[in-house]
Amino acid sequence: DKTYSVEDLAKLGVLHYSLNPQTYENDGTLTTIMKDRNYGHQSIVTLNDQIPETTYAKFFDEHIHDHEEIRFVLEGYGYFDVRNEREEWVRMMVESGDLIVLPAGINHRYNIGEAKYSKVMRLFPADIEPVWVAHSRSLPETLNMKTYV
Ligand code: LAC
Ligand code: NI
Repeated sequence: DKTYSVEDLAKLGVLHYSLNPQTYENDGTLTTIMKDRNYGHQSIVTLNDQIPETTYAKFFDEHIHDHEEIRFVLEGYGYFDVRNEREEWVRMMVESGDLIVLPAGINHRYNIGEAKYSKVMRLFPADIEPVWVAHSRSLPETLNMKTYV
């Protein structure tokens, strides 16, 4: 297995920021990222064993979005898998303080992890409805959509 550096991830269009989960509301770091990227919506979801397995199956189903995906982990951890240019999976563990930006159209999935617990902030661009829309790679119509790599 290859270990990816931040630079390798950046080549895939994946950005990573470290925020302080205790102070991010007041220290300006999140506000700056949101302003720079024209983000306008945020909501916090708690993923635990109360959430139906079907939801986790949907998150772990390979998919793309029409826009960037930004997730900021406040508590717990999980795994983001993204496809590299050779269609191999690249796994990133994300935990408290990690803010990850996936480019629009990158094939990816999320694994809730062994502990099945994460509290995650979802951020959406200001110019779209803050609604989760994913195109599963398993659907024929997704094959015609523009993907990142
Ligand atoms: C999302 C993760 C599951 O779209 O990729 O929220
Ligand atoms: Ni997604």
